[in-house]
Amino acid sequence: MNIVILAAGMGKRMNSSLPKVLHPLAGKPLLSHVLDTARSLSPARLCIVYGHGGAMVPEAMRAQDIAFALQEPQLGTGHAVMQALPSLDSTQATLILYGDVPLTRRDTLQRLLDSAGDDKLSVLTVDLDDPTGYGRIVREQGNIVRIVEQKDASPTQRMIREVNTGIMVVPAGYLQPWLQQLSNDNAQGEYYLTDIIARAVSVGVAVTSAHPGAVWETLGVNSKVQLAGLERTFQANQAAALLEQGVTLADPARIDIRGSLQCGRDVSIDVNCVFEGTVELGDNVTVGPNCVLRNVRVADKVSIKAFCHIEDASIGPASLVGPFARLRPGTQLGQQVHIGNFVEVKNSNIADFSKANHLAYVGDSDVGARVNIGAGVITVNYDGVNKHRTVIEDDAFVGSDCQLIAPVTVGKGSNIGAGTTLTRDAPPGKLTISRARQTVIEGWTRPTKKQKPEKQD
Ligand code: UD1
Ligand code: CA
Repeated sequence: MNIVILAAGMGKRMNSSLPKVLHPLAGKPLLSHVLDTARSLSPARLCIVYGHGGAMVPEAMRAQDIAFALQEPQLGTGHAVMQALPSLDSTQATLILYGDVPLTRRDTLQRLLDSAGDDKLSVLTVDLDDPTGYGRIVREQGNIVRIVEQKDASPTQRMIREVNTGIMVVPAGYLQPWLQQLSNDNAQGEYYLTDIIARAVSVGVAVTSAHPGAVWETLGVNSKVQLAGLERTFQANQAAALLEQGVTLADPARIDIRGSLQCGRDVSIDVNCVFEGTVELGDNVTVGPNCVLRNVRVADKVSIKAFCHIEDASIGPASLVGPFARLRPGTQLGQQVHIGNFVEVKNSNIADFSKANHLAYVGDSDVGARVNIGAGVITVNYDGVNKHRTVIEDDAFVGSDCQLIAPVTVGKGSNIGAGTTLTRDAPPGKLTISRARQTVIEGWTRPTKKQKPEKQD
């Protein structure tokens, strides 16, 4: 089978310089949603018809298996499909999709293909309460005889509620001759793809139809309002799937997944969490409210408290993170690690049972097991030109408010006194401290406030 995706329209109502089909839904361009579904059907040929936005669409979508056909100017849907013909295999049926209709399910398209069989033309149609703007499906004795566009329809035809979604399958061998016979003698002066239905009927090719499981599968995006609407539909579907699976969601209307989220058993997710890229949560994981997780692996029994931002990281079993923690790319936490409030970790390994509970920056570091990193500790990893690593060995205790000036090693089992600026390695098992001695100034008195002159009336 061939698949043609129409994506040349300009999307004027988006009020954007980005071509409509490149606007993201759940973090991914509209057109990528359609492409992924198209690919799941393993087409022999896949062609995207583009126009508005110039090379932006092919540049964003470029891949081995896709042919691009430029439609310039845009003279209608029939004209658009015509541009794809050189990229198609005329001995195979052709499925036509729209690049701005992102949520059609594979099952629905499979049903449409099955209904077409080898020799029928099949249209995906849907009954709408308000069919305004759509092409109407005209039937005689139950059989589809033609599609009439809103602007060309008679008042009686406008009463028809069954509409053309635009998605159809054309049997092998007919697409080219039928498109060549199209005329633009209609209300919009366009070459309508929909005119091929009457053509099929006139030459005795059977025309049939299939229907989507839900109306939203056929909805297109012409404005930001419609885009936001479909985003909510998509997110609601994902939330429903998680609930089905046994995940607890504090509010299924307040979770956004822009990528894939895999959850183990007894996972609980509080409100307003955003999951991006590939996120895996193990068994018994809890995620507090207002967290953002992007490309993260979370092991069993981890608790992530409110307001954490976690990116390209992995968190070992039974660890506690947050509230207000930031784990940046390259963070790897072992088991039962505690990362508390206002702690930032970047490109660091922190081994089992270690803790950094308050206000710390751990960057480019290798932290051993059972290490305690006190409040206000900072790894000074950047000298303005290069980054250097800090090594903190097992069982070390770094007192509050220390600066560890990398490259530096804190030896196994050592203590670093509070307030130390560590510029050289601290030996294992010893107390290392760098701090000005405390002194008391005798005879010092507090300054007193100067008396202001009295105000005169
Ligand atoms: C079309 C159908 C109509 C159907 C409706 C569903 C025709 C003549 N009409 O309406 O029956 O109910 O879709 O939404 O087919 N496009 C191009 N090049 C063009 C024109 C359009 O690539 O020259 C693409 C658009 O980017 C869009 C799709 O085709 O993805 C549909 O175009 P649009 O203008 O939205 O649809 P209508 O022609 O109004
Ligand atoms: Ca449209």
